[in-house]
Amino acid sequence: MKSRIAGVCVELSGVILLLAVGACVSVPSGCKRLDERPKNAGKLSSSPAATPVPGTADKKVVCTNLELTEIFPLDTLPNRTVTLILSSNKLTELKNHSFIGQIYLERLDMKNNLIGNIETDAFWGLSALKRL
Ligand SMILES: *[C@@H]1O[C@H](CO)[C@@H](O)[C@H](O)[C@H]1NC(C)=O
Ligand SMILES: *[C@@H]1O[C@H](CO)[C@@H](O)[C@H](O)[C@H]1NC(C)=O
Repeated sequence: MKSRIAGVCVELSGVILLLAVGACVSVPSGCKRLDERPKNAGKLSSSPAATPVPGTADKKVVCTNLELTEIFPLDTLPNRTVTLILSSNKLTELKNHSFIGQIYLERLDMKNNLIGNIETDAFWGLSALKRL
């Protein structure tokens, strides 16, 4: 585990230098992280403990207009990221296994990119995907 995390930091160090960010960032700093609204928010809950346990809520990560040219290491996304918006960037290709391990991801938006090459196994591992 430790070595994998270190690897991510090394991989990102070029980006960090470019952005002059000192810390080892996980997701690009321009990304917004939001909690997804529970799908049953409209229903009245009789339980007083309706507040979700921190860290267990579904997450939405929005990375638009960041001029991203490739997908950052997605194992750094918050736990339970169900929505990932990568629209309006400059992604040019989707490599095999780009989304490996994203078992919670249900919605992936890559509109308005420059994608010209999608490798055969690019979406391998996206078991929960519903919308693309
Ligand atoms: C994500 O889940 C893993 C495994 O359940 C846990 O060890 C880790 O602390 C969690 N990370 C966050 C940011 O909640
Ligand atoms: C991607 O996966 C496909 C199918 O397994 C394989 O044919 C192709 O060579 C792979 N591409 C790369 C660049 O690894």
